[in-house]
Amino acid sequence: MSEILKAEGLSKHFGGLIAVNKVFFSIRPSEVTGLIGPNGSGKTTLFNLLSGFFPPTGGRITFLGDDITDLPPHLRVMKGMVRTFQLVSVFNSMTVWENLVLSHIRFKEGYPSSRKFFFSSAKNEDILERCLKGLELVGLQSKAWTPTSELSYGSKRMLEIGIALSLNPKLLLLDEPLSGLSDAEISDVVNLLQQIKKDLTLCIIEHKVSKILNLVNRLCVMNEGHLICEGDPNKVLCDPSVRECYWGKAEITV
Ligand SMILES: Nc1ncnc2c1ncn2[C@@H]1O[C@H](COP(=O)(O)OP(=O)(O)OP(=O)(O)O)[C@@H](O)[C@H]1O
Ligand SMILES: [Mg+2]
Repeated sequence: MSEILKAEGLSKHFGGLIAVNKVFFSIRPSEVTGLIGPNGSGKTTLFNLLSGFFPPTGGRITFLGDDITDLPPHLRVMKGMVRTFQLVSVFNSMTVWENLVLSHIRFKEGYPSSRKFFFSSAKNEDILERCLKGLELVGLQSKAWTPTSELSYGSKRMLEIGIALSLNPKLLLLDEPLSGLSDAEISDVVNLLQQIKKDLTLCIIEHKVSKILNLVNRLCVMNEGHLICEGDPNKVLCDPSVRECYWGKAEITV
């Protein structure tokens, strides 16, 4: 398979606004794809379409060779596509461990109620093992019983990634994993991504391009809903159309 995920002619209209405009986009297995572009260019909307949070206005999505255009988000997760969010998305009122276990209730089929899960399936060794592995990968073992509200923003981001990893993704979509983090926290997340990229396919939206340049194999650029450039990261960053969408035409000709 030359791609793990393929979007063909994917569009999303919000009334008169075309946030994603007939985008052809693919993610190759075992690669790290970077997705960049100015604010409002449609990156998060593209992730929302790929992960099933928004129905597309047009186009088709294929994942692992299957058409998933109409598949609900939780079934995409079960199939191996997991995402994180631009604003960290964890439950502050729960402990770190509860957040991890809850993610399996939310996404797994066969748990009609949380009650049933906690009183029977919580013993499921496989799930507990995966939660523990997620916790270890992000280095939060000592915080397992800490209320999530007491974690720093960087630790919450790590927890969100740990939850995603515990779901056993084949493809992990990360929406600005470095935003809002200190330099030290950025290093921790980048090191973690370097480590996990050996075992899975990653696609990362990020504004801090310099921080992910050593991580990505391929860079894709969106502007005003269009995918305007893709390829080798260093070549892409020198492309006149990319420089123009960031800095304007006048700047480039100087
Ligand atoms: N739910 C929505 N309803 C209406 N318009 C939306 C919605 N979500 C996004 N948009 C609009 O779609 C466009 C693309 O937004 P999107 O969030 O995808 O951009 P982005 O590239 O992720 O930007 P940023 O880098 O700032 O996160 C913007 O004009 C935004 O206002
Ligand atoms: Mg965004």
